[in-house]
Amino acid sequence: MTARIIDGKAHAAALRAQLKVDASELVGRGVRPGLAVVIVGDDPASRTYVRNKVRACEEAGVVSKIHEFPVDAPEAAVMTRVRELNLAPDIDAVLVQLPLPPHIDEARVLAAVASEKDVDGFSVSNAGALLTGAPQFVPCTPAGIMYLLEKENIRIAGRHAVVIGRSNIVGKPMALLLLQKDATVTICHSRTPDLAIHTCMADILIAAVGRMNFVGAAMVKPGACVVDVGTNRGPDGKLRGDVDFNAVMDVAGSITPVPGGVGPMTVAMLVANTLHAAGQRKQESK
Ligand code: GUN
Repeated sequence: MTARIIDGKAHAAALRAQLKVDASELVGRGVRPGLAVVIVGDDPASRTYVRNKVRACEEAGVVSKIHEFPVDAPEAAVMTRVRELNLAPDIDAVLVQLPLPPHIDEARVLAAVASEKDVDGFSVSNAGALLTGAPQFVPCTPAGIMYLLEKENIRIAGRHAVVIGRSNIVGKPMALLLLQKDATVTICHSRTPDLAIHTCMADILIAAVGRMNFVGAAMVKPGACVVDVGTNRGPDGKLRGDVDFNAVMDVAGSITPVPGGVGPMTVAMLVANTLHAAGQRKQESK
């Protein structure tokens, strides 16, 4: 079997074209959507992600500004900026790029983002809303994966989904979204023994491990849909996934590549969430 390649780049481009239309409609009604991105330190990967996010938002018609802090910036300075952005009337969306340097309490900073501007969906109230089934903002990577599964007609209800990874950014919200669509969900992580026993039962396998080529062909059920969330750098500096793509291609039914799979969808979903936030502003100011 040779897996069908799920072209996340093409799906994201189509979605972004639609979002551009939606944004111009908002502008026509007097709302210019605004995004603020807070980044602390100079991690090259984070800087690239932020640049891609801002570029995508600008292309869609969202005014975007990066708020940069040096790696040794005190937590209080970052908190103060987040609180200012919460109050800024022209800013609909506030995103704090992760990871933050170790001296900054990530949970405390994320909790400071106003829930109605929390387009990452990382605040306790948005995470709770997702848990209880009435999400406001869904974290962008899992939201993008759900979009891909739907567009690719991957059946979810009644099927077994296995998520490798339990982060607040991907693993946990991903599991909740699949559960909401009536999958039977298993969450595996670094302390799961005999991982392959679980992954081999997956009709849908989500790999969010952070280790290059971690998922090999022997870990995949024939015909499964394999979604690769990995963003690892190979020895050549190139972006690589968590899945051994060439080997798994022969076993899976469908597979997302890296690059060009989940990554572009994460960015498109940020644009979508930002427009959603701006749309709420319009409703409130009527
Ligand atoms: N770091 C890695 N992924 C993400 C993301 O989706 N949002 C933010 N804010 N930081 C990240």
